[in-house]
Amino acid sequence: MAVARYLSTGLTKSFRRPGFWFILLILALITLVHYSEILSYPSFLPPLMSSLGLDRHAFERVLFLAPMVWAGFLFGWRGAFITSLAALLSMLPRALFISLHPIDALFETAAVFIIGNVVAISFASLRKEREYRTRLEISRQEQQEIAEELSVTQRNLRFYLQQATRAQEEERKRISHELHDDTIQALVVLSRQLDSLASGDKGLSEENRLRLEELWQQTDNILKGVRRLSQDLRPAALDRLGLLPALEWLASNVAEHSGIATGVKVVGKERRLSEEAAIALFRITQEAMRNVWRHSGANSAEITVEFDESKTRITITDNGEGFDLPEDISDLAKNGKLGLTGMQERAQLVGGTLKVQSQPGKGTIITVDLPS
Ligand SMILES: Nc1ncnc2c1ncn2[C@@H]1O[C@H](COP(=O)(O)OP(=O)(O)OP(=O)(O)O)[C@@H](O)[C@H]1O
Ligand SMILES: [Mg+2]
Repeated sequence: MAVARYLSTGLTKSFRRPGFWFILLILALITLVHYSEILSYPSFLPPLMSSLGLDRHAFERVLFLAPMVWAGFLFGWRGAFITSLAALLSMLPRALFISLHPIDALFETAAVFIIGNVVAISFASLRKEREYRTRLEISRQEQQEIAEELSVTQRNLRFYLQQATRAQEEERKRISHELHDDTIQALVVLSRQLDSLASGDKGLSEENRLRLEELWQQTDNILKGVRRLSQDLRPAALDRLGLLPALEWLASNVAEHSGIATGVKVVGKERRLSEEAAIALFRITQEAMRNVWRHSGANSAEITVEFDESKTRITITDNGEGFDLPEDISDLAKNGKLGLTGMQERAQLVGGTLKVQSQPGKGTIITVDLPS
């Protein structure tokens, strides 16, 4: 039942294709010729038939193979089977009731039916395989296109990130310089004036003198705060003296405020780095030291800078409590922890790499490599 339904669904679909009607026409024509005794063949055919060892009706049975194979090619094995059934029905009456040699005729009919089906099914599976290969090729091409699009998007994103980072650094530098050149200078002048007023002998009452001293103290505190802010935005040492003095300043700053003994060790001969590379290495070390301070519980940390022929390497080591590393560092960003991911991005933007090693109870080592 299921096979019959399957076949009839195929048949209904086939009605809509012109190839189906053409095959039907060919079948009808061959049947007509097969049963018509008055039709005669063109003169070149009878000798051809006898050279193949076939009489006229056997030759016609062979002709039935053509629509069967063709149907297999167009409609798959179902088409071939239905067409061969139709061919069988066309051939059987002659073989059974008209043929002078019914046994031979029946044998030929069965042979045509079987050969037709085998050839048609082989064609159908060949076609299927070709279609499969084509689909495979198309999906491979699509995958390649998607991969290319992705890599273009990634390149654009990286470029955008590079520009945004540069702009951010420029802006920090500008604000830091403005604070240093204008605000800090003005505060220094104000602080000196207040100091000289408070300490001068101008017949000030004790109360006013104390008030002036208090104002001087406040101005001095503001001055220190603005200096810190300016240094934080862009350490002056980085622009004036280069990476190593800036790292020294960072280490002493962390040690002073956190109590973590922090040292800088230099291995190899110092090499001058581009401004962009120096800033990237400084920012990575700054963020690593911020993590040591906030998360590690360490009492000592070390920044090692190594220069060799092929690269500059900075290693930040602490003896703190360490942590369980996720499989991929960028997974941390999903939980709003952007420090390590940002460090990795920074390193990649200047052509470098970042490695994080940590284990609970065993401290943390951050290594950034920058090829020369
Ligand atoms: N030196 C360290 N010692 C111990 N744990 C660390 C250290 N550095 C990082 N971690 C752990 O890794 C996590 C991720 O650090 P990351 O810098 O990416 O984010 P964060 O410091 O939590 O937040 P953010 O930097 O975005 O303010 C931290 O929350 C902390 O648990
Ligand atoms: Mg952090």
